[in-house]
Amino acid sequence: MDRIDPIISRLTLEQKARLCSGADAWNTYPIEEQEIPSVLMTDGPHGLRKQYDKSTAMLEQSVPATCFPSAATTACSWDRALLYEVGEALGSEAREQGVSMVLGPGINIKRSPLCGRNFEYFSEDPLLSGELGAAMTKGIQSTGTGACIKHFAANNREYFRMVSNSIIDRRALREIYLSGFERAVKKAKPYAVMSAYNMLNGVYCGETPALIRGVLREEWGFDGLVVSDWGACYNREKGIAAGLDLEMPYSGEENTERILRAVKNGSLGENALDECVRHILSFVFRCEENKALPHRYDAERNHALARKAAAESAVLLKNEELLPLKPNTKIALLGEFAENPRYQGAGSSMIQPLELENALTVFRMHGIDYQYAKGYSIAEDAPNETLISEAQRVAAECDVAVILAGLPPRYEIEGIDRSHMRIPQNQTDLIMRIAAIRPVVLLLCGGAPIEMPWLSSVSALVNCYLGGEAGASAMAQILTGEVNPSGKLAETWPLALTDTPAFRFFSDDRHNVEYRESIYVGYRYYDAAEKEVLFPFGFGLSYTDFSYSDIQTDAESIAPGGTVTVSVQIENTGSRAGAEIVQCYVQEDGCFLKQLRGFEKVFLQPGESVRVSFTLTDRDFSFFSEGWKLMRDAHVLIGASSRDLRLDTAIKIPSGTAAPSYPVARDGHWDAVQFYGLFKRIPSVAFSIHPFTINATLKDFDSVAIGRAAHRVITRFAEKHMDPGGYHSHKIMMQLLEENPMRVLVSMSGGLFTYGMARGVLMILNGQVFMGLLALFSAARKRKKRKLKSK
Ligand code: BGC
Repeated sequence: MDRIDPIISRLTLEQKARLCSGADAWNTYPIEEQEIPSVLMTDGPHGLRKQYDKSTAMLEQSVPATCFPSAATTACSWDRALLYEVGEALGSEAREQGVSMVLGPGINIKRSPLCGRNFEYFSEDPLLSGELGAAMTKGIQSTGTGACIKHFAANNREYFRMVSNSIIDRRALREIYLSGFERAVKKAKPYAVMSAYNMLNGVYCGETPALIRGVLREEWGFDGLVVSDWGACYNREKGIAAGLDLEMPYSGEENTERILRAVKNGSLGENALDECVRHILSFVFRCEENKALPHRYDAERNHALARKAAAESAVLLKNEELLPLKPNTKIALLGEFAENPRYQGAGSSMIQPLELENALTVFRMHGIDYQYAKGYSIAEDAPNETLISEAQRVAAECDVAVILAGLPPRYEIEGIDRSHMRIPQNQTDLIMRIAAIRPVVLLLCGGAPIEMPWLSSVSALVNCYLGGEAGASAMAQILTGEVNPSGKLAETWPLALTDTPAFRFFSDDRHNVEYRESIYVGYRYYDAAEKEVLFPFGFGLSYTDFSYSDIQTDAESIAPGGTVTVSVQIENTGSRAGAEIVQCYVQEDGCFLKQLRGFEKVFLQPGESVRVSFTLTDRDFSFFSEGWKLMRDAHVLIGASSRDLRLDTAIKIPSGTAAPSYPVARDGHWDAVQFYGLFKRIPSVAFSIHPFTINATLKDFDSVAIGRAAHRVITRFAEKHMDPGGYHSHKIMMQLLEENPMRVLVSMSGGLFTYGMARGVLMILNGQVFMGLLALFSAARKRKKRKLKSK
C-alpha cells in the first residue's frame, strides 16, 4: 500500500498504539496532523442502528431506519439475489447516514435452538449461512459501505459468552463452524471480520494467531480489518500479536499503554503493531474514499423490499386446503401480535423502524375483513380467561380464526439464552380453545423453533419468523394468495428440546462448552440418527406442486481438482405460479452423514419446467482430517428437503479414502472418552474462582462476603451512572453486569471504570483490603487527571 507505508513511518509509537483502539463507541480514532480521518461503523445485520449519542450503546436511542426481516427469516428464502438486494438497500441507507461500515451479517451456526441470538443468524448449515452471508455482504459492499461478518468464531451460545470456551474437534470446527466464514470471506471479501467474545479450544478467539493469522489470513487470503466484538479484548498485546487489529469500543487509555510497554520491553514486535496499523489505515482510507461515490436511497423502496423479503421468506408448514383464504371468508383475527407486532429480536441488532406495520391496519388494506380480539397479553404468560372467552365469542361469529402467536420479545434477547422451547401458556390455551370451535390458521412469529403440542389441532400454519417492519402486509399477501409461499426452513424444527443433540452440553457449564455432537449438528444429526422431527431442514410447502425428474451427470467420477455437474428437470405441475428451492446433498457411500452442497431457487409458471444444475467441486466430496481429503465413492441426492430426496446418482472417487469413523450417537452426543479421543491435547480451561482475577464475574464475587458487598456497590454505581435506557437495554445491561468479567466492564465503560480501579477491587476481594483501597483511590485519581487533561 504505497500511501500507507510512508504514513506509518511518520507515526510515533504512541500514535500507532492509540490507533488500535476506537475513539468512542462507534468511531475509529482520528489523527488530524497525519490526515487520518475517523470513520463510523454501526450495527446491524437487518437494519441500521445508528446511535444518536456516539458514546453510548443504549439500544433504544437510534436513528429510525428500515427494519428488514432478521437473518433467521431471510434465510428461509434461500435466495441469494434477495439477500444481495437487502444488503444493497442497507448499504445505501448507511451511506445516507454517513455510516462507513455495517456490523453484519452474523453467520454463526445455530448449534442449539436455545441460543438467545439465533434470530440474528441464518442457519444450522454452513453452506447456506456462508452463501447467504456472502450475498448480503456483496450487496452491502456494492454501495461503497463496508460489511463486517461476525462473530468469528464458534460463538454459539450467549450464556457467559465472554468467558466461555467452545471445545470443538478439528473436523467439526472446519466442516461446520468455520466453513460458512470461509465461504463468505472467499466469495465476498468483506471489509472486516469481527472476532468473537468466547474462547475456542482454550484461547480467546481474538488472541489465537492460528485462527486469525493462520486460517483467516494465510489460508483464506483475507486482507481486511479484524475488529474485536465490543469489549472482546482480554490481553491487548497478545491480541496485536495474533492479528486482532482494532479494539472496539474505546476502553480508556490502558490498552494503549499496554501495547507501548510491550513494544518497549520487547515482548511485542513493532512489526506486529505496524501490520495492525496498516490494516486499520487501509480500512479507514478505503471508507473515506467511498464517501465520494454516488448512492441512491429511497425509504419507500426499502419498505417495499422489506415486505418482499418477508413474503418470500415465509414458510408454509401445514395446509389442510384452508389457504389461500377464499374471498368473503369471515375472519376472526386473534392475538395481541396483531396490534403489537413481533418483528425483530432484542439486542445490538434492535433498530427503530421507520414505518412499522401491524396486522390490524394492513389486513383491511389487503381486503381481509375481520373481527379482532386480543386473546392473550404479550406481557404475561398466564392465561387470562376474559381475553380467551372474548376471542371464543368472536371466533364463533366467524368462519375461520387467524391467530398470530409465537415467542414474545422478552423470550429472545441477545446475551440471554432461552431455557425451554415453549410459547407462553396463554397462547397455547388460546390456540387449543379456538381450534376446538373453528378452523385455525396460525401465523407464527419468533426467531427460533418452538415445540408445538397443538400442531394437529391447527388447520394451517405459516411460519413468518421475524418479518421486519412490513411483515404484516407480507402475512396478508400469503393469506390472500397474492403471494404463493416459497420459503423453506433453514433449520430443523425438532419435536422437543430433549431431542436436540447439544441438549446436555449447551449450558451445563459456565466455562467449558463441550461440542460433544461434533459434526452432527442440525439435520446432519437428526437424519443420520433417523430421529423423528417436527419439520425437517429444507422443508416448506407451496400453493402449487413441483415434480423432479431426469437426473443427469456430466461425469461418473471425480478426481482431485475436478468438478462434476449434476442436473435435474423441475416442473411446476400445479395451477399457480410459484417458486421451488431445489436442494443438492452429498452422502459418502456406507455413511449416514448427508450434507447440503448446493441449492437453487427457481420461479416457474404453471406447466413450466426448467433444468437446474449443480456444479460440485472436489471440496464438496471432502472431509477434514489434517487437511481436506477426498472421501470414498458417494451419492449425489437431489430433492425438496433433507428428508424428501427424490433423485440420486452415484459418483466414483478412485483416489478417495474413507473418512475416519465418526459414528452418530443415538442421543446426539459422544461420551467423554470418545470425544476427547479426537484431541491431541485436552483444550478445556481450568477456571478457579479464587483468587479473583480480572476474568472474575460479579456472580463469582458472591462467593465471599466482601464480594457480595462489592457486587451491590458496582451494581448501584452502574445504575447511577449509566443511562437506564428502555426495557431491553436495561435487561441486557443487568445481565451484562452479572455475567461479564471485570475486564469487559472496564472496556465497555468508555473509561469510566479503569483497569486500575478493577485491580483495586480485586485486591480487596483477595484479602488485601488496605492495598486494594489505596490502588482503587490512586486509579480513581489517575482517571480524573486523564479526564481533565483530555478536556
Ligand atoms: C455484539 C455485536 C455488535 C456489538 C456492537 C456486541 O455486543 O455481540 O454483534 O455488533 O455489540 O453493538
